[in-house]
Amino acid sequence: MAGTGGALAADALPGFFISVEGVDGSGKTTQAGQLAESLSRDGHQVQVVRDPGTTALGERLRALLLEPAADWALEGWAETALFLAGRVQLTAEVVRPALESGAVVISDRYIDSSLVYQGARSIPWEAILELHRICGADLRPDLTLILDLEISAARGRREGRPSLDRLESEPNTYHEKVRAGYLEVARRFPERAVLVSADRSPDAVARDCLELARARLQPRRAV
Ligand code: TYD
Repeated sequence: MAGTGGALAADALPGFFISVEGVDGSGKTTQAGQLAESLSRDGHQVQVVRDPGTTALGERLRALLLEPAADWALEGWAETALFLAGRVQLTAEVVRPALESGAVVISDRYIDSSLVYQGARSIPWEAILELHRICGADLRPDLTLILDLEISAARGRREGRPSLDRLESEPNTYHEKVRAGYLEVARRFPERAVLVSADRSPDAVARDCLELARARLQPRRAV
């Protein structure tokens, strides 16, 4: 079984891989940026990436996948394959080389987003993990920060945004499944995934994220 995608665990590489996950509106992007600043101040070489995105292919796929009023159908498996394609490129072109060079890589979303968002469309987790393994996009993060927020609160935050993208426009029932998926990720992969309550000030959330990252980075640096 592919497990956490452990065949290519990032902990076999010299760097440190952090993924930041959460429902839309949970504040991941802000937190990923803050964490990068703090770890840079600590003296780490830090690279922030976003998934989907970062590479030329990934940014094109992102535009396509998030297009607010898509006038074309996208079946669950096709959606899975497109997110996977972006992640294969991101892993090969940026994440793996950065980890090989010893950097801390912070990814704004990674494989767990596929498990929970495409899983919420009834795509089986085992199939998603296996596809990632086959395609070499199954780097297991050393730490996954899951910013947990109730959907009613997340929706309130999203309503402040100028326009909703294709996935943000999905009904609450879909986003509830996504949140439940993240709780399942935390249960299933406790060695790397930590729930962080996002229903607090950004500074309080940032302090917890930094503490969790430092606690895991230090023992490895001390060896
Ligand atoms: P996100 O990264 O949250 O960007 P922003 O908050 O800046 O709009 O948007 C990406 C969307 O794509 C989000 O709704 C989750 C979804 N997604 C998937 O469905 N599957 C995936 O594998 C990934 C990485 C994202």
